[in-house]
Amino acid sequence: MAILITGAAGFIGHNFCEKLAKKKLKTKIICIDNINNYYSVNIKKARIKRFRKFKNFKFLKIDLSNFENLKKLFKSYKFEEVYNFAAQAGVRYSEKNPNAYIKSNVEGFINLISLSKKNKIKKFFYASSSSVYGDNNNFPLKEKEILNPKNFYGITKKMNEDVAQMYYENYKFKSVGLRFFTVFGEWGRPDMFMIKYLNAVYNSKKFYLNNFGKHIRDFTYVDDVTNILIKLRSKKISKNEIYNICSNNPIGLIKIIKFFEKLSPKIRINKRGFQKADVYKTHGNNKKLLKTLKIYKFTNIYSALKKTHDWFFKNKKIYLK
Ligand SMILES: NC(=O)c1ccc[n+]([C@@H]2O[C@H](COP(=O)([O-])OP(=O)(O)OC[C@H]3O[C@@H](n4cnc5c(N)ncnc54)[C@H](O)[C@@H]3O)[C@@H](O)[C@H]2O)c1
Repeated sequence: MAILITGAAGFIGHNFCEKLAKKKLKTKIICIDNINNYYSVNIKKARIKRFRKFKNFKFLKIDLSNFENLKKLFKSYKFEEVYNFAAQAGVRYSEKNPNAYIKSNVEGFINLISLSKKNKIKKFFYASSSSVYGDNNNFPLKEKEILNPKNFYGITKKMNEDVAQMYYENYKFKSVGLRFFTVFGEWGRPDMFMIKYLNAVYNSKKFYLNNFGKHIRDFTYVDDVTNILIKLRSKKISKNEIYNICSNNPIGLIKIIKFFEKLSPKIRINKRGFQKADVYKTHGNNKKLLKTLKIYKFTNIYSALKKTHDWFFKNKKIYLK
């Protein structure tokens, strides 16, 4: 028996590996990633090092879009659970290079779900995104809202959900789609607002603030995300499910900068206008999630921001290149 985790060198995937490692499971955990260079490969390598040291973890460099390699992997291990975090992430980059999204998020996803169905995987979890909602002001957004993504990234994530739905309707293959809302925290992505800001403070990078800082995001701490995933893992999956993974606590970017300014030197902020692919605000309803988990207390946002700041300060060198 084994567990497969894709996108294991990525921000959320590797934090989930780390959390599973702490559980000291006897099960073999196979972690894969194509280690692409969308952002620094050094960061990805440093993340892999963290869980590679655990005896039951194995890392393999595999691309989801390579069906034959993936098929061999499913032949080599008897997987019972699959967690798909691998994807071409990033909203704005999807305007520049849509083909990267087709390859990883569409082709790669279909390869993985079809092999999972064939191999009768009992637990199939996959990362979706709040981007599937697009510009919908019916806040806080419930899972049942009509989806209208406004960028190519969101379209590929909606396609994942549609494919998962079709697999349930046609083959009774059960899955859980996780609509993540702006995840932040330790080992975060250097292309996202928070780490970009800290990178500018401590590694003298230039900082651009989009939409003059007027964006509001339902920031969700990565430690909460991985705790939630561990809890969801123990639940019985009875159909094709979708959950908003969010704190239900939207906050403006300026407020976050003001908080960081109390902890660190002030920097020059280059403000710029609204980027077409962006949405102004995200705010998810997490009632369905909380009903399933029974109880879950989210980390206080300021305590999570402080931990993220302190971690970055200690590990700033990883983000230099
Ligand atoms: N971080 C967020 O706030 C957020 C929000 C919504 C959704 N998501 C989704 O959650 C998942 C994880 O996001 P993340 O922030 O950790 O991103 P990330 O870019 O840090 O991690 C994704 C990983 O997948 C790998 N990858 C990409 N294409 C691959 C392929 N074809 N085969 C194998 N590996 C491949 C990348 O090398 C990377 O290490 C993604 O699906 C992302 O779209 C993230």
